[in-house]
Amino acid sequence: MQHAKDIFLSILRNKTTSRQAFREAAMRLTHLLAHEVLQYLPTQNILLATPLAATQGTTIATDIMLMPILRSGITMLPAFLSYFPQTSIAIIGARRDEETAQAHLYYQNIPPHTKNTRVIILDPMIATGGTGLIALSLLKTLGIPESNIIFCSIICAPEGIDKLKKQFPAVMHVTAAIDDHLNARKFIVPGIGDFGDRYFGTEG
Ligand code: URA
Repeated sequence: MQHAKDIFLSILRNKTTSRQAFREAAMRLTHLLAHEVLQYLPTQNILLATPLAATQGTTIATDIMLMPILRSGITMLPAFLSYFPQTSIAIIGARRDEETAQAHLYYQNIPPHTKNTRVIILDPMIATGGTGLIALSLLKTLGIPESNIIFCSIICAPEGIDKLKKQFPAVMHVTAAIDDHLNARKFIVPGIGDFGDRYFGTEG
């Protein structure tokens, strides 16, 4: 699986990758990540009938809420929805100030859920971890246990993922890479540059 992730990650990393190829690689890589997330969800046996016979099958045992963090997190939705078509979707907006690199919550719209709902946070880049901390703190106030949360990213800086693991140790992380470090401007190195700018076409 890491081999497959690395192939798509390399397309994302390459600065000469076109916007179309960037989007396709991000989509394919996110499919791999959704497949990995699926393996960590509880399943249950079910009885079903094929056209020929009764047989045992398997289904996901819990309800799921996807939580993409605006803006880049929504790029991961289509791949996740193809694996989990019945999920509810909680949208949150947490943005980091380019000057201070501090994140703040500016939008939230959370569907009904229970404490047993599994929440999958979608955010392609964990840089300082500030945005992730905001999402995890919000889920804590909503009563979702840490052990019911999976944080799915494409690339993490060690500083960011360490910060999240320290404050929320029971949250599971699924990612394609933990990179080397953050630079002075809080970009992940080697990284892929600004994910949102390259995906949405807002690079200056
Ligand atoms: N967000 C990005 O898109 N890229 C980084 O390197 C860090 C945060």
